[in-house]
Amino acid sequence: MDPVKRQYESYPYPARDPADEARRLVEGSPSDPIEIDHFLFRGRRDWRRPFRALIAGGGTGDALVMLAQKLADAGCPAEIHYVDLSEASRDIAKARMEARGLTATYEVRSLLDAPQIAAEQGAFDYIDCCGVLHHLPDPSAGFRALGEALAPGGGIGLMVYAPYGRDGVYPMQDALASLLGKDAPEVQVAMAREALASVPETNGFRRNPFVSDHEASDAGLYDLLLHSRDRPYAVPELLAELSAAGLAAVSFLEPLRYDPAPHLPATPAFAERLKRMTPAERWALAERLSGNMRMHVVYAVKAGREGQAMASLSAEAVPRWGGPDPRALAAKVQAEGGFAITMAGLRHRVPIPKAAAPFIPALAAERSFGEIAKAARMDWFAFASTFGPAYRALVGVNLLHCSKGLGR
Ligand SMILES: C[S@@+](CC[C@H](N)C(=O)[O-])C[C@H]1O[C@@H](n2cnc3c(N)ncnc32)[C@H](O)[C@@H]1O
Repeated sequence: MDPVKRQYESYPYPARDPADEARRLVEGSPSDPIEIDHFLFRGRRDWRRPFRALIAGGGTGDALVMLAQKLADAGCPAEIHYVDLSEASRDIAKARMEARGLTATYEVRSLLDAPQIAAEQGAFDYIDCCGVLHHLPDPSAGFRALGEALAPGGGIGLMVYAPYGRDGVYPMQDALASLLGKDAPEVQVAMAREALASVPETNGFRRNPFVSDHEASDAGLYDLLLHSRDRPYAVPELLAELSAAGLAAVSFLEPLRYDPAPHLPATPAFAERLKRMTPAERWALAERLSGNMRMHVVYAVKAGREGQAMASLSAEAVPRWGGPDPRALAAKVQAEGGFAITMAGLRHRVPIPKAAAPFIPALAAERSFGEIAKAARMDWFAFASTFGPAYRALVGVNLLHCSKGLGR
């Protein structure tokens, strides 16, 4: 049996109990439908139309359950197809769906078969592939398969590991493999825990504050440190894989984390050099400077459509607020000209002009930006220039998206 399949039969990932569906919905990125609408369908998709989604390597079902539940709540006629190599993972994913009265089709099958599935049943409007491609023997074949299975106007939400935030993980994986590689999985897990407790404080893994999956569960420890096949992607490598598969990135998440400017001196000399860089060069620079990215979440589309996929500030766009009480944020912006937010262990100061503060509470009111401007008795151009910097900042930290058809 393939060692990766064997691992996920023994340790379905992430560890989930279907009984927990009665008390909470696991949410995250990629694959929240409002994010999908914002980044892939300009925030204008008509969700009354059928929506075909593939959950590729769906594991124990986090993305499957979130997508299915939210689309069911929105009354969207969605057809969701789940594939994974692991029967044990499929069983848990299916039980979680059944606990909620949700349906999908399930196959214990490789995502490399996505083009055949699409040819037989129809191309996919959306493909989720979270934490899978970096485990394939030939990841490029996986990227290509997903690209081929995608409908021309559709999009993909991906997560792959990133190298610099995983400092220390790979030497530790090699160390444990050399020690325990021939042992049974349960022995590996138990002895890895003992070994971790005794490595010196100079050990790179021990010094890395960004990785903690091994503390959550045995499945997490196995996934992080005992994996038989796992490679990370720096931004340029990921973009090259997408490009070779006929795909292109629309946006990384959170967008602000991929802006290198806050990590550099705010002088004209640096600003001038940053301005000369392409977006891809800036994303790569942000990754190299920040050092805290342990994964990349990226929304991608067929190459050529990347400039037309994402929502923008327009009178028709309907904002969807994804944060805590927007009135409290408005008060903070009014008082301080911005706010602070911690993402992946790094505190970011997010400047927002005070003049935009009065509009922030309206972002949760389910009204279009045009209606918000009208209520403030402002013509569209005055509103857009006052609110534009706030729009970019709030989308940048993933608190604000646009979707005409989906509410929170
Ligand atoms: C780290 S888990 C991620 C699960 C899920 N996507 C999530 O984010 O919670 C990786 C999953 O990919 C599956 N997998 C690995 N190679 C695969 C392949 N070629 N086709 C389908 N699934 C695969 C594994 O069985 C495992 O369930």
